[in-house]
Amino acid sequence: MKKFKVVITGKTRPAALNRITEACDVQIWEDVSRPVPRETLKQWLLDADGLFSTGDIRIDDDLLNYAPKLKVIAQSAVGFDNVDIDACTKRSIPFANTPGVLTETTADLTFALLLTATRRIHEGWDMVRSGRWLNNYDVPFGIDLFGKTLGIVGLGQIGAAVAKRAQACGMKVIYYNRHRRDDDHLLQANYVSFDDLLEQSDAIVVLIPLSTASRKMFGHEQFAKMKPTAYFINAARGGVVDTAALYEALETRRIAYAALDVTDPEPLPAGHPLLTLPNIIITPHIGSATHETRSRMALLAADNLLAGLAQKPLLTCVNSSVNYR
Ligand code: GLV
Repeated sequence: MKKFKVVITGKTRPAALNRITEACDVQIWEDVSRPVPRETLKQWLLDADGLFSTGDIRIDDDLLNYAPKLKVIAQSAVGFDNVDIDACTKRSIPFANTPGVLTETTADLTFALLLTATRRIHEGWDMVRSGRWLNNYDVPFGIDLFGKTLGIVGLGQIGAAVAKRAQACGMKVIYYNRHRRDDDHLLQANYVSFDDLLEQSDAIVVLIPLSTASRKMFGHEQFAKMKPTAYFINAARGGVVDTAALYEALETRRIAYAALDVTDPEPLPAGHPLLTLPNIIITPHIGSATHETRSRMALLAADNLLAGLAQKPLLTCVNSSVNYR
């Protein structure tokens, strides 16, 4: 029987790769030191039935023009700001992401960033490791979470999971979404305007997807409205923040501290100005990076891919108008 041809844009979990290779001929980009070159991808896509995307690959009209046979695109990530969904839909190509399976894991990392920053855990460890722990007075002092207000920008599934963790620590939760959630009373989260959230929050957690509307949503004006004691945590996408404005807000102590899992640019190059600041902690985009969760994401993406190849409904299709029925 003729096998389907599938292109995989980067290294993925063995269980998912095995599932795909059992049913398909696979062309995979395995070099982790650089993303697959666009020209290579275009050549590979010429006779591909399926695309499994992982890593930051721009999927747009220009790329899809080279993929005349494509029946499905399955991405092993929840975010899809790298994908032009309209370009997929107009070619009747269903696209799926991986929502749900990374919710708790990403909420853990987001909350860990909040705790690490507010209790300065990383600075304490640096002090101990470098032999600078000399007494119990000159140690990093943090702030309490109990009784403080957490402002969540983007209260979706991950935001709701962060809200629960914050409430368990005695924090009050407010949030801003473009549309108020009908069930926010169940989450005990109060809906406020964006400006009110900026002004009232002791810590702000950003979990909003990157889109034209949210690009650089946090700039000089927004940092100026925050409390000078505010903590700013971004676990969404680097592009929602104006990096130069964040640098200035931290450098001038307009806000107290930032904890970022995502940056713009990404990866952040050595010597970047953000790395010179004392009041920041940055992790390398590890929101979903646990063994279990990355496997769940890759397997869900593999299942979406195989469903699409069989022209069956994708499990988590974004452009449902062109999903198979
Ligand atoms: C991670 O950032 C994801 O979108 O899954």
